[in-house]
Amino acid sequence: MSLLEAQKRVLSGMRPTGNLHLGHYHGVLKNWARLQHEYDCMFFVADWHALTTHYENPEVIEENVWSMVIDWLAAGINPGSASMFIQSKVPEHAELHLLLSMITPLGWLERVPSYKDQQSKLTDRDLTTYGFLGYPVLQGADILIYKAGQVPVGGDQVPHVEMTREVARRFNHIFGRDSGYEELAQEAIKKMGRKHAKMYRQLRREFQEKGNHEALEKAQALIQEQQNISLGDRDRLFGYLEGGGKVILPEPQALLTETAVVPGLDGAKMSKSYGNTIALREAPESVEKKVRTMTTDPARVRRTDPGDPDKCPVFKWHIIYSDKDVRDWVQAGCTTAGIGCIDCKKPLIDSIIKEQQPMLERAEQYENNPDLVRSIVAEGCEKARTIARATLEDVRQAMGLNYR
Ligand code: TRP
Ligand code: SF4
Repeated sequence: MSLLEAQKRVLSGMRPTGNLHLGHYHGVLKNWARLQHEYDCMFFVADWHALTTHYENPEVIEENVWSMVIDWLAAGINPGSASMFIQSKVPEHAELHLLLSMITPLGWLERVPSYKDQQSKLTDRDLTTYGFLGYPVLQGADILIYKAGQVPVGGDQVPHVEMTREVARRFNHIFGRDSGYEELAQEAIKKMGRKHAKMYRQLRREFQEKGNHEALEKAQALIQEQQNISLGDRDRLFGYLEGGGKVILPEPQALLTETAVVPGLDGAKMSKSYGNTIALREAPESVEKKVRTMTTDPARVRRTDPGDPDKCPVFKWHIIYSDKDVRDWVQAGCTTAGIGCIDCKKPLIDSIIKEQQPMLERAEQYENNPDLVRSIVAEGCEKARTIARATLEDVRQAMGLNYR
């Protein structure tokens, strides 16, 4: 597998923390289902990541692992197009996590926003653990072990992908240098003269140790300005700036796609912990009941009060589920009190039920055949391990751990 091919690989994971809901469907799964036709996709259940926060009640994890895989299958992730596997069944992730932890500065981890955020949000748990601090390193190992080029994630995960890039860069910098290269680069630096050489070294360190891109650009400009160096030296100086040696672990990119945000039944963000969700596999009767009692524009107290769709979460759902005719009908009917909220919700209920019908059918097929689900995941794990083992070979070799 060449690096170029690997760059076409898409990898993403989800923590098994409960039944998936419409927020996951529109925000993540629809995107995965689309990507699976364009890329070599690998999707995995991040059960070790779930353990970083749920280590005191791990029993919920097992059940969620399988129901989440069924949710994925129900949402149209196709085992023929994408591999699905479980993180803890590919223990190579743990070895790479350990090796990467050797070179990851503590400051990087303490600076990741989710670290302090989650600690202050999840006050019922003790998250002052070694494992929780290392959450992004484990995520980095998940990504780098497949040399994945693209990582589809939500905005909250971007800092983790950014840190993964920095860890990869640092790894390549420390372990990816060919012999002789270093000396030639040092020679070239000296040829810039004392003042510029010092500047170059400082900027290079700024970039490589802290990922400061401004420093990188400044250093590149500095090389451009040099009059008295050969073309070969120029290339060397450019290459040395960004690591220069071999790329063992390529830097991944976060794949941010515009996705619809589905508000919860109360208008807040849809989340299991707020109890405002519609599950991916909600029974039709329950969909109907939940939507009928869903929050609307508070100005419409009585049927005769006009409302404003822009202030109503129901309308946000219409934007996702309804065509222009229906939306125009809502807009006109709501603002003139021509329609009631129950009328307004009716087409929405129908659309959601219609969308979920095939998912319920697919899910039932898998629920009735747990062996089939197990074998899909087993196959995914096999494929994942083959790739993971090969990467670890490269990593061990680069780190000088290939002694026998
Ligand atoms: N941290 C991610 C989340 O909470 C899950 C995850 C774990 C992940 N490892 C990953 C996502 C690797 C993308 C790539 O959503
Ligand atoms: Fe919301 Fe529709 Fe009621 Fe208007 S008519 S307030 S858009 S539910």
